[in-house]
Amino acid sequence: MNLWTIQEADFTPATQHHKETIFTTGNGYLATRGTFEEGFPNDRRATFLHGVFDAAPLVVTELANAPDWLPFEIFLNGERFALDRGSVISFERALDLRNGVLTRRVEWESPRGERAAIVFERFASLAALHALFLRVRVTPQHASEIHVRAGLNGTPISEGSQGERLLHWNWQGQGARDGNVFLQARTFHSDIELGAAMRVTTTLGNEVAREFWDVRGEPTLALRVNAGAGETVMFEKTVSYYTSRDVEKARVVECALQELDAHKNWASAYQANADAWQEEWERTDVVIEGDEEAQLALRFNLFQMLIAAPRHDDRVNIGAKTLSGFGYRGHAFWDTEIFMLPLFIYTAPHIAKNLLNYRYRLLDAARAKAKQNGFEGAQFPWESADTGEEVTPTWLPHYADRTKLIRIWTGDIEIHISADIAYAAHQYWVATGDYEWLIAKGAELILDTAKFWAARAEWNNANARYEYNDVIGPDEYHEHVNNNYYTNRLAQWNLQTAFDTLNWLNEHAPKKARELEARLGLNAARLDKWRDVIAKMYLPALPNGLLLQFQDYLQRTDVDLAALEPRTISVQQHFGIEGTNETQVLKQPDVLMLMYLLQNNFSEKQVRLNYDFYTPRTDHTFGSSLGPSIQAIMACKVGKPDDAYEHFIRALRADLYDVRGNAHDGIHGASAGGTWQAVVFGFGGLRVTKEGWSIEPRLPHHWTRLQFRFFYHGKQEIVEIVADGG
Ligand code: BGC
Repeated sequence: MNLWTIQEADFTPATQHHKETIFTTGNGYLATRGTFEEGFPNDRRATFLHGVFDAAPLVVTELANAPDWLPFEIFLNGERFALDRGSVISFERALDLRNGVLTRRVEWESPRGERAAIVFERFASLAALHALFLRVRVTPQHASEIHVRAGLNGTPISEGSQGERLLHWNWQGQGARDGNVFLQARTFHSDIELGAAMRVTTTLGNEVAREFWDVRGEPTLALRVNAGAGETVMFEKTVSYYTSRDVEKARVVECALQELDAHKNWASAYQANADAWQEEWERTDVVIEGDEEAQLALRFNLFQMLIAAPRHDDRVNIGAKTLSGFGYRGHAFWDTEIFMLPLFIYTAPHIAKNLLNYRYRLLDAARAKAKQNGFEGAQFPWESADTGEEVTPTWLPHYADRTKLIRIWTGDIEIHISADIAYAAHQYWVATGDYEWLIAKGAELILDTAKFWAARAEWNNANARYEYNDVIGPDEYHEHVNNNYYTNRLAQWNLQTAFDTLNWLNEHAPKKARELEARLGLNAARLDKWRDVIAKMYLPALPNGLLLQFQDYLQRTDVDLAALEPRTISVQQHFGIEGTNETQVLKQPDVLMLMYLLQNNFSEKQVRLNYDFYTPRTDHTFGSSLGPSIQAIMACKVGKPDDAYEHFIRALRADLYDVRGNAHDGIHGASAGGTWQAVVFGFGGLRVTKEGWSIEPRLPHHWTRLQFRFFYHGKQEIVEIVADGG
């Protein structure tokens, strides 16, 4: 088994959209779904560029599907090559995770009996973020006139949340210069200018004609090449994108054209890309021995994180579906801070810093949201895009009946995200020791979110306690609950950590402490209120140590989930939204999640008690894709590595096997990031504090060796765990 390659041995149109997602290629600037260059009926062609959003109905704003760089059509003696015509004699697709190169090999026979072997290879360069490369080799069986049409499609369609088709690009111009082709377009609402440029060369074979087809919206180069029987002809298509997020509007085309000149040919670009990937994997790779499936699938999940990670830009975040599909419209959620960020904090702190800076830059928008709701401090949006405003749709089509709209409450009341962001900022600091960042930015994130929590806390006079009522916790099967344990405890942690941060600043950066105290109004009265909220926060629990999902949780119906097996739909689909709300079934186990985040606060006995209680009440298979990796970590903590493995493999397979049937919408980014945490913090048992790190491994029985790397305070550590007898 090749442990670095995702392979597909035949093409099945029924799984077309799923495969388009998993064969996505990208470089953290952009990503392109794994559609075919020549097209296929109903394909969902998409290239998404980080930060290139545009307004869209219901969902407020979405990543605008960018002009398509893939079009490459081939005609053999006048017959158009396409997999839905003629016969496919053999088909093979392979994504090399080591260097991000996607290869497709096809043997095809046309309806009139023309045969050829065709190989497509493509990648988005990790070494040159604006450059994309495609190489095509055609070997006809008989002497042929091969005609190719390589273009840029300036009218790419986005698939809307109601199945409607949207175009985000207003054509601005196109043309040819020195043999290269360019296209210029502008998003309709956000006014982002994009320049794309293309070069096509025939690198093997006898090119007899070349023409520029100035078709509006789709500038194309048409080439004719004669090939003898069995002779291979080869084409290279190089494309570059620049937008007005990168350079001034007036320069986007010029920069795109210049970029082409910077790349001599496929071979040199290939090498530079491979070298960049090698560096990436030296920081990120995890070696698992004794389990080939897990090894390959983990690398696939890490690859998905690496192609979505903005290395170049701290004004963008990673959407819940990365850059690989239309799902969630490119919006970022807590998925980033709690699920994806740890991978970057520990293997690529510079990327983690970019992601956190994105939140820092959008603090003013978070302040505006708090203010709008009558609070002070910073309340981050549940869904976030380019401006930091709340972009959660208020209404969406019902999953079962698309003619009905359902009210989406998360943007109004799923408030835990503000504490999740503060938590992530603190984690970054603990792991990296980046004091400079804490002083410049992190402290403000922690303090201003704390300010929000103190303001949002409701005083319950009868019980003399502070509460957060009418919220949604991470478990979204229950809406409008009071006192979700996760929310209340993490808010309290946020306030406590704000004090610690302020104390630390007073000692190490007193000037900054004064500045923040003055700017955020952290006077004695306000800090007294914070102390009061911390001391009197209501944390619903039973005397035996069972933490309650939320107040009154135990009054909901206890459902025997095993009795619903075999099940192919989520519990929410089974009982309906209202029905599920009445049960104790959880979409994801957020009490356990909290125990993971604040692990030093709970005894082993208490973790076990809660683990045993919540595990059978969770919709592991069809609930949230965020759950399994955390469940795996907690199973390790209670000494059940083989149970942990079952959850872990579910997370690992989420997209590769389309476990939830929605991989066509894009990669489940949180699940992908969570797999790394499950290995490192679960099976590897890594614990990190300000004082240092330690491990307590608990490998699944069949693993013989586990090796991972991470940075602690700027130094790379390598951990190798060999199983007993291994
Ligand atoms: C999950 C949320 C998650 C969102 C985006 C929802 O289904 O319940 O926790 O943030 O998807 O992935």
